[in-house]
Amino acid sequence: MKKIAGVLLILVLAVSMLVGCGKKIDIGIAMPETHVERWVKDGNSLKAEAEKLGYKAAVQWANADQPTQNQQIQGFLTQGAKALIIGNINDGVGSAVADARREGAVVIAYDRIIQGTDDYEYYITFNNYKVGTLQGQSIVDGLDLAAATSAAPKFITLFAGSPTDANANFFFQGAMDVLLPYIDRGVLRVVGPFPRHYSDAAFQQIATENWQAPVAKARMEALLIGAARTVTLDAVLAPNDTLARAILEACKADSKYQAKLPVTSGQDAEFDSAMSIKNGEQYSTVFKDTAKLAEAAALLADQLIKGLEVDIPGTVLAEGDLEEIGFTGTGYVKTLLLDPILVTKDNLQVPVEAGFYTEAQAEQLQ
Ligand code: BGC
Repeated sequence: MKKIAGVLLILVLAVSMLVGCGKKIDIGIAMPETHVERWVKDGNSLKAEAEKLGYKAAVQWANADQPTQNQQIQGFLTQGAKALIIGNINDGVGSAVADARREGAVVIAYDRIIQGTDDYEYYITFNNYKVGTLQGQSIVDGLDLAAATSAAPKFITLFAGSPTDANANFFFQGAMDVLLPYIDRGVLRVVGPFPRHYSDAAFQQIATENWQAPVAKARMEALLIGAARTVTLDAVLAPNDTLARAILEACKADSKYQAKLPVTSGQDAEFDSAMSIKNGEQYSTVFKDTAKLAEAAALLADQLIKGLEVDIPGTVLAEGDLEEIGFTGTGYVKTLLLDPILVTKDNLQVPVEAGFYTEAQAEQLQ
């Protein structure tokens, strides 16, 4: 009896291993996290787009943990993936990229550049520097800085994204290139740490490890009873929607901001932030049509797998001033860029009309 049970167990294990690892795939999609809403959509859209092109695709999310993502990538390679589309967490992904090279799989860095190696095919993303300039411009407009004077300056505090994500550098620098002239004229004053450039030491103080909302909220709370205790903040440079809402939550708990919240930027056009903008809380977001990014990335994988000449409608090659976006620290990778769009209360219908939300959500945004 025991023997039969043992044999059965081995059979069950063998079958489940076959089902689990044996399933062949063409394209492996490795996404970084689910705590920022967009990545759930990105993963699902990428899989759907790859399947539309006739490929077998699999998607996994890594909970902002690079060793987990590397294991997931190994899994894709074991399943025979010919192409990998990777939204990485940090440069620890390099060893998995090297394995993919050895196996002959095409590697595409998706949205976030893979740093520390340039030994992969392509990087596809939005113009991340422009994302930052749009964030900065929305603060200039929201505060009417053109009319501000140094006798009655406006006060801002600065937040940045994850120090492990090169996108965070471009978002910050784009914003600062717009804001610095006002700061230097004394019409805008920075409260709290003030890096002028992402390479300044103070950048580490405003950065938010792994884009975690509780980290940004705690820093804002500390700021409100610390450096910002004696002023009323007019604006907050927030790098994305998840962090913007966390920062605004901290402000809402402070009696000073009951009547008026700081003009706060964002990014991703998350539904909750779109609602917040509609309700006059968050000031702006940057809409990146990730459905288009996913469509473009799947087509790129298709052309690379087939060895065709790359030609992706709706993208431009990062050249000239934009070439830096494709710098990995070791060299340049070919980089394709899509265009981001600034969204405020005035044009909230842009992402709605692009079909970015579910019907029920779109209705709430009317
Ligand atoms: C993406 C943003 C996103 C952030 C946090 C960045 O790399 O470009 O869209 O908000 O990561 O996930």
